[in-house]
Amino acid sequence: MKLTKRLAVIASYIPDGSTVADIGTDHAYLPAYLVLEGIAPKAIATDIHNAPFQSALKTVEAHCLLNKISVRLGNGLDVLRPGEADVIVVAGMGGRNMEEVFEKAPEVLRQTNRLVLQPMTAVDMVRQWLWNHNWQIVDEDLLREDDKFYQVLVAEPGEDLHKGDPEFGVNLIKKGHPLMGELLQKREAQYGQVLNEIRRQAKTEIKEKEQQVEAKLMTIKRVKQQWLNAQKSIK
Ligand SMILES: C[S@@+](CC[C@H](N)C(=O)[O-])C[C@H]1O[C@@H](n2cnc3c(N)ncnc32)[C@H](O)[C@@H]1O
Repeated sequence: MKLTKRLAVIASYIPDGSTVADIGTDHAYLPAYLVLEGIAPKAIATDIHNAPFQSALKTVEAHCLLNKISVRLGNGLDVLRPGEADVIVVAGMGGRNMEEVFEKAPEVLRQTNRLVLQPMTAVDMVRQWLWNHNWQIVDEDLLREDDKFYQVLVAEPGEDLHKGDPEFGVNLIKKGHPLMGELLQKREAQYGQVLNEIRRQAKTEIKEKEQQVEAKLMTIKRVKQQWLNAQKSIK
């Protein structure tokens, strides 16, 4: 089974021998791949909607994996018992939705060794949520598909002593990740546009917003320099 680049990157952060729960699985391609490749001895594939749940069942049946992958219909972690999964993957969902899923299931999270997350939006909120709930981000990855950047966060229980900016984290910068320069450039241009728009309106009540965006642009400059230094030391 061949995965898309995004799912293949996510799969690479699943330790061998883990029981994996893929929340919001849709077609269940990720759990099917992990079991077929012998990375996960068993898996749980869940989705909140019936159509993706049926697709997941179809994939699992087509690969004769019904004895190894449990396909479940339900909201977030409601359909998991504490301790059932070593690793929980939540990919392709918005950051706020992820937070809601986590907030409802502290018992399940307490017995999970690793989270592999790929938020479609609000990655800063997801990092902040992890930090506030005693998860450390131990690794991160970045990929681009169809001109869109995707960040992958790998978190394990424990206090994060190296946080960095919630939008960018520290791992991609420390690694001198080859795509990080492009991501920073894109964000710098986007925040620059926002700042121009705020200044054009020149309303006093949006002074605070202007200061926030200026601070963000300063952060991007600083992070860019750290990333360049890391790149130089790798070469
Ligand atoms: C864009 S798809 C992503 C599928 C797959 N995880 C991936 O990354 O390719 C998002 C899936 O999450 C499901 N979903 C959204 N909210 C959910 C929730 N609270 N609990 C379980 N599944 C959810 C949707 O039904 C949909 O099938």
